[in-house]
Amino acid sequence: MTSRRNPSNRQPGRPADGTAEGAPQTPAQAPKVEFEETTPYDAYVRSSTLATLQRTMTDEPGEYMFLVLSQIMELYFNLIAFEWRTAQRALRDDDLSEALIALRRSNDHFRGLNASWGSFKWMTPTDFNAFRDALGEASGFQSFLYRHMEFLLGFKDPALMRPHKHVAGNHYAELVAAFEAPSLYDDALAYLSRQGYAVPQKVLDAEITRTHEWDAGVEDVWVKVYEDTGHGEPLRQLAESLTDIAEEFSTWRYWHLIAVRRAMGAKGGTGGSAGLTWLEKSLQRQAFPELWSARTRI
Ligand code: HEM
Repeated sequence: MTSRRNPSNRQPGRPADGTAEGAPQTPAQAPKVEFEETTPYDAYVRSSTLATLQRTMTDEPGEYMFLVLSQIMELYFNLIAFEWRTAQRALRDDDLSEALIALRRSNDHFRGLNASWGSFKWMTPTDFNAFRDALGEASGFQSFLYRHMEFLLGFKDPALMRPHKHVAGNHYAELVAAFEAPSLYDDALAYLSRQGYAVPQKVLDAEITRTHEWDAGVEDVWVKVYEDTGHGEPLRQLAESLTDIAEEFSTWRYWHLIAVRRAMGAKGGTGGSAGLTWLEKSLQRQAFPELWSARTRI
C-alpha cells in the first residue's frame, strides 16, 4: 500500500505500486521482497508503532482484547469525526454531493465500529473482575475522541470537557474549539435554509454552544423535504444519511449498555458513575430529534 495523498512518499522512479517505472509486468510477477530499514508499508501504516501500544496492566488474556477493542473504537471515533468535518466543509460550500459521500462513508465506518461489540459477548463478570481493579479510575467516559463526536452531533455539555482541562497536550483546546464550532446538524440546517427551506431564524441564530433542542419549525422543514423529494434525490439522501448517523450512534450506546450489563451488571463504573442507570439516561438522548418526530407526520 502506498500513500496516494502524499506523492513525496513515493520512491523516485517507481510508480505507486512499487514496481519499476515502465517495467513490463507478467501475470505471475511476484511482489518485491527486499527492503532496507523499513518496508514502505510500515513507513506508511506505522504498524510496528501500533503494535507497541497494547500495554496491558495484567496478564489476563481478556484484558488484551478489552484494550485492543478500546483502541480500535477510538480510531473509529476519530475517523467518523473526520468524515463529519469533511461533510460540514462541503455543506458550507453548498456541495451536497461531496457532503453525501462523506456522510455515507461515515455510516459505513459506524457499522464497522458497532460490529466490534460482538467481541465483548464472551465477557462474564468473572472475566471482567479479573482485570477491572487494574483499570483504576480509567473509563471511556474520559474519551476525548468520543466527546468530539458528541459535539459534532450537537450534544454540547460543557461539564464533559472538564476531565481534560488540566491534562497535558492540546486535547482540551481542541475540544473547546469543537464545542464552540457549529455541529453537523447546524451545518445541515443552514444548508437547507440557503436552499429556501423555512428553517426558523431563532434556530439559525441559536447559541452554538448549547445542545440542540427539538423545534417544531425544524420538524416542518424535514416533513417538507420528505414531501418534496423522491428516493435517490440528494435532499432525501441528506435526511436519510443523518437519520442513519443518529441510528448508528444510538446503536453504539445500546450495545455499550448491553456489554456493560453483561460484564458488570448494575455495579458502579470505574469512572465513578452509577453505571447502568447513568448510561440508560444518556441512551435516551436522541441526535437530530426532528428527523425522528417528522416521521409521525409524513
Ligand atoms: C465490558 C466493557 C465495558 C464496560 C464494563 C464499560 C463500562 C462503562 C461504564 C460503567 C461507563 C459509565 C461511566 C463510568 O462510571 O465509568 C462507561 C462509559 C463510557 N464508556 Fe465504557 N465500558 C466498556 C467498554 C467500553 C469500550 C470498549 C469503549 C470504547 C472506547 C467504551 C467507551 C465508553 C464511553 C465513550 C463512555 C462515556 C459514555 C457517555 O458519556 O455517554 N466503553 N463505560
